[in-house]
Amino acid sequence: MLQLSELDLHYLGVEQQDFANDPFVQMDAARAVHPWLAKTSFGYIVTQYRAARELIVHEDKLRMGLTEIADHMGAQGTLWGKFIADNIESQTGETHKRLRNAISSFFTPGKLKAHRPMMRQTIAELLDEWTPRGKFDFEEFISFFPISVMCKLLGASTDVIPRLRDSLEALGLAFSMDRSLLPLLNDSVRILDDFVRDLVAERQANPRTEGQDLLDDLLRVTAEGKMDDEELFSLLIFLFGAGYDTSKNVLTMMMKTLVDWPEVYARCAEDPAYCRRVMNETMRWHSPGSSMRHVDQHFTFRDVEFPVGTVIMMPWSILGRDGTAVPDPDVFNPDRPEGNPHMAFGAGPHICLGQFVAKAQIEEGLHLIAQRIRNPRIAGPWQWRPFPGVWGIRGLPIEFDPAPALAEVTH
Ligand code: HEM
Repeated sequence: MLQLSELDLHYLGVEQQDFANDPFVQMDAARAVHPWLAKTSFGYIVTQYRAARELIVHEDKLRMGLTEIADHMGAQGTLWGKFIADNIESQTGETHKRLRNAISSFFTPGKLKAHRPMMRQTIAELLDEWTPRGKFDFEEFISFFPISVMCKLLGASTDVIPRLRDSLEALGLAFSMDRSLLPLLNDSVRILDDFVRDLVAERQANPRTEGQDLLDDLLRVTAEGKMDDEELFSLLIFLFGAGYDTSKNVLTMMMKTLVDWPEVYARCAEDPAYCRRVMNETMRWHSPGSSMRHVDQHFTFRDVEFPVGTVIMMPWSILGRDGTAVPDPDVFNPDRPEGNPHMAFGAGPHICLGQFVAKAQIEEGLHLIAQRIRNPRIAGPWQWRPFPGVWGIRGLPIEFDPAPALAEVTH
């Protein structure tokens, strides 16, 4: 049995810009020192795909480490600190199970299939508006897609988007460990909180007479006592936040990657089934999310003792490039014989609740984008976002040949 402190571990400065710019080379260097663990400023990071998968299921020993990060940012007693402590992701055990059970049937692939035409129409309208320019910031363009889809799923007017977008952008930087962001985070939570309370009050005052949307479903389970009003408000804010820059960043990372793989991109315009494989390979190649866990009960994993209080990061976003788990990890190949193994949506009890929303909108989005934005080229500088929290690309200027949509494909 080994104590954590006895291990010889590489140090990874995950909050440094050079890590965000190329985490893969640094992860390889860390694996050369120890096969599955490295040190960080806040604790440890798992560097091996298989170890992260095995570790995350120890829900009884590990709990969500978001409140520790919020504390690290000095957020105790603030609005944002309260939102972090109260939201579904920070809950454990019975409370988490109750919330998940109350709502998981609203997020199944079957439920989402019915929303695909709405997703196609949403991206088609955005493309109609933006593509005649022939040149734009792809990140800015695509940011309107997930937020419009979420508004439509909840029956909210898309007029609110300009008001919400900046707040959602701010929340996406919440876990970048930058304390100076705290006032912005508190203001953002206030704006989103006002918005979801108004949304609920408006629906309660004017119930829909036909058709049930996600908001009706959530109000029904709240009325049945499966969650209380405060849990509902917190969940609504979380859904907007969780679905916004994760999906936006995957689509932006996908565009950046596919500029370098033009044959793959061109085929996406013709072949909707291929879009699913390209999406999965993109998320193996890189994706935005990581999980933080806090050791709640002393435990032993792979002969190493983890004391209570240890913070561990599972960087799902980059583990798909671990050469000990994936053959030829640095080759982008949607047709991998072994499939496209990725854990972009996490694993274990907190696995992404909205993964089928995300997959449906990314697949539908990619298929139509590839039809309308032909021969995309990078047209200006872009940057990597901070790695901890929600990683991705900030600003992706592209130019392209605008084209009409191919005939409507039914699938
Ligand atoms: C490509 C887009 C997305 C990615 C990469 C992503 C990634 C993740 C990851 C890694 C987790 C697990 C966090 C952890 O265990 O620490 C998670 C949780 C979650 N995600 Fe997503 N997500 C995406 C889109 C969405 C969307 C569209 C929604 C809502 C419609 C959503 C709602 C949630 C919720 C509610 C949780 C918390 C689940 C729980 O704690 O039980 N996500 N997501």
